[in-house]
Amino acid sequence: MSPILEINDLKKMARRRVPRMFFDYADSGSWTESTYRANESDFQKIKLRQRVAVDMTNRSLKSEMIGQEVAMPLAMAPTGLTGMQHADGEILIAQACEEAGIPYTLSTMSVCSIEDVAEHTKKPFWFQLYVMRDKEFAGNLIDRAKAAGCSALVLTLDLQILGQRHKDLRNGLSTPPKFTPNHVLQMATRPLWCLGMLGTKRRTFRNIVGHAKGVEDLSSLSSWTAEQFDPKLNWDDVEWIKERWGGPLIIKGILDVEDAKLSLKTGADAIIVSNHGGRQLDGAPSSIEVLEEIVDAVGKDVEVHMDGGIRSGQDILKAIALGAKGTYVGRPLLYGLGAMGKPGVAKAIDILRNELDITMALCGERDIKNIGKHNLYRK
Ligand code: GLV
Repeated sequence: MSPILEINDLKKMARRRVPRMFFDYADSGSWTESTYRANESDFQKIKLRQRVAVDMTNRSLKSEMIGQEVAMPLAMAPTGLTGMQHADGEILIAQACEEAGIPYTLSTMSVCSIEDVAEHTKKPFWFQLYVMRDKEFAGNLIDRAKAAGCSALVLTLDLQILGQRHKDLRNGLSTPPKFTPNHVLQMATRPLWCLGMLGTKRRTFRNIVGHAKGVEDLSSLSSWTAEQFDPKLNWDDVEWIKERWGGPLIIKGILDVEDAKLSLKTGADAIIVSNHGGRQLDGAPSSIEVLEEIVDAVGKDVEVHMDGGIRSGQDILKAIALGAKGTYVGRPLLYGLGAMGKPGVAKAIDILRNELDITMALCGERDIKNIGKHNLYRK
């Protein structure tokens, strides 16, 4: 086996181990995937400033996100269907994040439920909420997250309507998979994945099934999901969510300076500059392209985080240099999970941490808190 040196090595392994419909679900963007690609490639346009003959001993990546201590300014982004990349996926990533000292965000559309993840972790995690038409169901999710001791609510605002992902439609994606000949073939060629799935009961959206009226099985669940995301969502909804939750609130899905300014009125603790991993408005700019202007506009009034396209520790450093107080990865840890379960997630976090640490040193810095625009090479 060749050594695992970078996130791409884990991605290649995951592609071989996870049935195609689920690997593709994680790996895809909407329509032409131009924003998905730009999220990654725009990082390459940013150059770092090399410094030499600087004392590089005693380095620290410790930081804070919304006032909570983190081992480095990185968190796991909420990702749907994580438990389909690998059996019990949400629990495994949450545990690996906890051990690494970084926040884990559980998605509403997770396979393992809030209570299940809480039972299998020791420290509080964050919970991501979609705004549903059924306000009582959304309210109950908030109450459940509170009861489970979640220490932040991440409210996603950019998915009132789903951006079309061609791969999912072509693959006939469903959870759990329908037993079409194509799905059976995809699973038959992934024996380790199948063994894991046979050994777990967690195979559908367990935050939802049994909690929402009329959702008992897959077919009612998929139509329920399509019908439930609220197309009328507006800033007033954020108010009642904030009130019902009463704890630290992070607003996810801001990509525009005007929206960033509007988000200030909600009194959120942080906003996440995000285009949903290139899965919603294809043709929108990459997150890293708009980060600086959003930080310039609102960074004094609210903590600005970002996600989208981070595939290395260098990318994390570039985002921090442009003013992000925290960053998130989704796919890199999903690749680790799909490749090897929990040790694969730990490996992915380790790769990112080492890259960030060495990059920081080669930029002539010893403390992540001192990283800024002066670390970027700009003519
Ligand atoms: C859900 O969050 C998705 O992007 O599929």
